[in-house]
Amino acid sequence: MISQRMEQALNAQIEMEASASFLYLSMAAWCDRKGLNGAARFMYRQSAEERSHMLRIFHYISDVDGAAATPGIRQPPHDFASIRELFEEVYAHEQKVTHAIHKLLDLCNEEDDYTTHNFLQWYITEQREEEALMRTILDKIRLIGDGPQSLYFIDKEVEAINQATAAAEADAEEEI
Ligand code: FEO
Repeated sequence: MISQRMEQALNAQIEMEASASFLYLSMAAWCDRKGLNGAARFMYRQSAEERSHMLRIFHYISDVDGAAATPGIRQPPHDFASIRELFEEVYAHEQKVTHAIHKLLDLCNEEDDYTTHNFLQWYITEQREEEALMRTILDKIRLIGDGPQSLYFIDKEVEAINQATAAAEADAEEEI
């Protein structure tokens, strides 16, 4: 059983993960419109991941006998100034999520809620990996430059990340 305050805070996190999923979906569609197929595939995958982050919390709240609430989602923006600004926005969003997870852990400490503290450890690792991944992409964009001539090469780099992720997932499945 979790406290009402913790239930509310976790439901707010559900809303944050769902908003990220919709924002990334909108970004994927923008990349598709611009012919950036590698970046589009990457953002579709990120969108699906955020949905899975949301569901993980949803199930957790039910497991501890709380009431998980489906969130109301505000319409995300549909237009982005450039691929660099898009990834800067993703990175900023991920940093906000990390901060929110830290706040949840503060609440766990305040309430001596060791169960939720334990549950949230997965998110700490996930956020570290996601922030590192977005920084890698931004570093590549800075190196390549983001003028019209560079878009093809940026997209190729992001597609290489897609391929590496798919290969790592296939390896993980083989190990099971
Ligand atoms: Fe679920 Fe990337 O925050």
